[in-house]
Amino acid sequence: MSTADRTPAWTALARHYDAEGRRFDLREAFAREPRRFDAYSLQAPEVFADLSKNLVDAQALRLLLDLARERDVEARRDAMFAGRPINTTEGRAVLHTALRAPRGAAPHGVEVHAVLDALLAYAEDVREGRTARRITDVVNIGIGGSDLGPRMAVQAFEAYRAPQLRFHFVSNVDGHDIAPVLAGLDAARTLFVVASKTFTTQETMANAAVARQWFTARAGAFGGSVAEHFVGVTTNLEAAAAFGVTRTFGFWDWVGGRYSLWSAIGLPIAIAIGAERFREFLAGAHAMDRHFATAPLAKNLPVLLGLIDVWYRGFHRYTSRCVAPYHQWLARLPAYLQQLEMESNGKSVDLDGRSLGYGTSPVIWGEPGTNGQHAYFQMLHQGTDVVPLEFIAVRHAAHDHPELHAKLLANCLAQGRALMLGKTSAAALGEKAPTAAPDIAPEVLAHHRTFPGNRPSTTFLLDALTPRTLGALIAMYEHRVFTAGAVWGIDSFDQWGVELGKALANELLPRLASGDVAGLDASTAGLLARLRE
Ligand code: F6P
Repeated sequence: MSTADRTPAWTALARHYDAEGRRFDLREAFAREPRRFDAYSLQAPEVFADLSKNLVDAQALRLLLDLARERDVEARRDAMFAGRPINTTEGRAVLHTALRAPRGAAPHGVEVHAVLDALLAYAEDVREGRTARRITDVVNIGIGGSDLGPRMAVQAFEAYRAPQLRFHFVSNVDGHDIAPVLAGLDAARTLFVVASKTFTTQETMANAAVARQWFTARAGAFGGSVAEHFVGVTTNLEAAAAFGVTRTFGFWDWVGGRYSLWSAIGLPIAIAIGAERFREFLAGAHAMDRHFATAPLAKNLPVLLGLIDVWYRGFHRYTSRCVAPYHQWLARLPAYLQQLEMESNGKSVDLDGRSLGYGTSPVIWGEPGTNGQHAYFQMLHQGTDVVPLEFIAVRHAAHDHPELHAKLLANCLAQGRALMLGKTSAAALGEKAPTAAPDIAPEVLAHHRTFPGNRPSTTFLLDALTPRTLGALIAMYEHRVFTAGAVWGIDSFDQWGVELGKALANELLPRLASGDVAGLDASTAGLLARLRE
């Protein structure tokens, strides 16, 4: 297969971009197309998406859909669902969708449901206090995909969390992470979940060793054992046994780390919200899987999102995308999406090893609204770069302060509208500036108070933040990343880019002790010497 930019659709898109795309104006588009909101919005399972404030017209969409067909996105999608080894550089299938499929509906159903049943039964035991000693604190020790998903979801499900349980997440090899967590724990009431797909990750193994040492120093006093208070979640059952955990929940090499919160890696989520809710979480994701697998491309939400990402990155050349959840409990969603998208699609060679002549993953970043509005939204409104924004709003709040929720939603709508409409200098000139600026000419000040507008955004609406809706939302993001990766022709499921740093860290560790700088570059040698002073 040729690279994406050698396809007829890409050439047609480039032509369309030069002729119309670069001058596309949202304000004119809305004036021209009274039905634009209806035409460019979509109700997918649990997620309503308004795509109308994106810089696309009908022709761009048509050509992007042609591109998806020329890049065999559907065949690749079907190969993923069927369990073919589409992660070619690691020779693995990609089957996180099987983790949320009903019994008998996807490959590996027997193993998946056997582990799920056992996991949920154990989660209920912990939740209901049926363990040897009643647990009050659950500490997840893991990093990357073995941390970000459970951490994000446990926070998101605050409304469903067992109130008698506290959750802690230790990921960083920086002792400042684990030390304060341990300081607040009662060993007799604590469950440590050692979560690592490989059970070899330096950070996790080091933190798990610290936790085990801390625990064993205290366990004699109450007759506790590592076997009762440590659980392993891993594909490497042998290494977990060697570490000393006897209770392990397994998963498989066809579950990528950043796609693993649906597997046993979701144990803290299951303990937090219980078995029934966890199954709803899986069901929400499965509903989005069915939508992705069966909806025609032009009505397929993850496909449309992935194609707009390709349009922005390859033609508009936007280098980042901001995610602004207007829900405080989704505070960790941008961090979660960073791994999902940037570790998946941050690649510069295609499946055949050829260097790509187009951009792939943008930088994903963001904070909950309204906080971000008072920090970096200045740049989004008036900076020199265009950053497409993604708003996530939730219709029904889980608190009793409707006046706050109304303000939150008004802010969310206002930001999308302000980014699109902007403000001319004439309008700014007609206004009174809120602060007095005696020495500045009104025309100059008006210029500073001008907004270019025409800045694109997408808005997602959920009815409420529930296990089902969050499941669907995350699956939507997964399949969107898949779509863009398939168009770009890359392996979205490997992560070779993290290896070099790991290897060099292992090489530098003994040098920090010995001071040996032989063969190091001058900068690293100089820094190492200073750190040893
Ligand atoms: O360093 C990257 C990575 O391999 C991620 O892909 C993964 O989620 C994370 O490390 C943790 O890996 P493990 O679950 O094997 O400890």
